[in-house]
Amino acid sequence: MSDNSVVAVGTPQSFRQQVARALEIEPDEVGWVQSATAAEELLINAYSPIDVLVLSPEVKEPDALGLAEFVGRSSPGTAIVLVRDHTWNGLLPAAMRAGIRDVVDMTQGSDELRDAVERAVAWAGNLRSVGVVQTEAQTDRGEIVSIFSSKGGTGKTFLTTNLAAAIAEATGDDVAVVDLDVDMGDVFTYFGREPTATIHDLMALGEGATGEDIRGVGVKMAEHLWAYGAPPDPAAEAPAGEAIGKFLRAIRANFGWVIVDASVDYSDSALVCFDLSDTICLVTGLDVVGVKHLSKSLDTLLSIGLPRERFRVVLNRADSKVGLDAGDVERVMRISVDAMIPSSRLVPTSLNKGRPVVLDEPSSEVSTSIRQLAAKFVARHQGGGHVAAAAPASTKKKKGLFSR
Ligand SMILES: Nc1ncnc2c1ncn2[C@@H]1O[C@H](COP(=O)(O)OP(=O)(O)OP(=O)(O)O)[C@@H](O)[C@H]1O
Ligand SMILES: [Mg+2]
Repeated sequence: MSDNSVVAVGTPQSFRQQVARALEIEPDEVGWVQSATAAEELLINAYSPIDVLVLSPEVKEPDALGLAEFVGRSSPGTAIVLVRDHTWNGLLPAAMRAGIRDVVDMTQGSDELRDAVERAVAWAGNLRSVGVVQTEAQTDRGEIVSIFSSKGGTGKTFLTTNLAAAIAEATGDDVAVVDLDVDMGDVFTYFGREPTATIHDLMALGEGATGEDIRGVGVKMAEHLWAYGAPPDPAAEAPAGEAIGKFLRAIRANFGWVIVDASVDYSDSALVCFDLSDTICLVTGLDVVGVKHLSKSLDTLLSIGLPRERFRVVLNRADSKVGLDAGDVERVMRISVDAMIPSSRLVPTSLNKGRPVVLDEPSSEVSTSIRQLAAKFVARHQGGGHVAAAAPASTKKKKGLFSR
């Protein structure tokens, strides 16, 4: 995260250098986040005001407009400058209506960008000096933990549902378990239930839903535990990333914890989910194919700018004597293993009963290992995990071109 007053938004990471060069300042004087959703998170958590967001050509137009609307609502003192590498295709009026202050064609050289950002910084400074800007207070919100594996059948849904049940039990906080694995979703099966909502009902929660609406669309599975999901509908269009973002924010505003069975691909909606996640749990079994998949996933997600400290690794069925161990995984992935869940016949048995094993067989070894993982998450959260992660990396004074 960043305490810079100018923040470059969007891949590639070299866009930050590009912006810094145009402004004739050092790259570390420009902040950087990977996506429009990550920029929204930055604004929500920022300790010092952000004057300008400079959006890279990789940020899609609908995402740019969505971000501008968000800024208008929750951070009206921040200006947006949109950089395109092609001629703007007629959406300029929409951009202006959404509050984007400038659209810069990078193919025309960097002078235009420098002028646009300087104008935007001056504008933001003026607003602040006349006291127009009231930044939205950081609201109390739940912690989002996503469970991900690019390979099927590794135990993603088993871990999602049981971790959610263990956290609900340990904390007494209300926990939402969300099935975003839209094609193969089987979160409800682990509770012996069927989803009743449609994907449309879920996405509608993003628009000013009350706490009551939100509980009403979920299905209560146990004490303090609600599940959100819809039956797979091959005819339905996958929800857009922006809709998923609004939905997850609405859920996290109403629950202490949100545990997500993430989709197995890198769709827009999956990326938005990762941008919003405080923690991303990667699950694998102890086989070469699984570990390769996981290592590739981690590289891919790091390459789009997600911070390494957001990731946790869980080895499932980790007692099998198969010639690979946690040390091998740590070496390949250069990340430490957080939990080892043993293989147990209680897992399929409890699935068939429709009751999470942590609730059904709480004293078993497999339940104990999941409770230990849950305890790690809870301890980190109680230590102010997500707030600390969002805090500025340093409190150094602004300097250079933009010092005031
Ligand atoms: N630790 C374990 N011990 C024994 N069986 C397990 C364990 N973990 C998962 N399983 C079994 O493996 C199967 C797959 O688990 P799960 O449904 O959680 O995988 P998934 O990664 O969600 O798969 P999908 O790609 O289908 O969504 C299930 O039948 C489950 O009971
Ligand atoms: Mg699954």
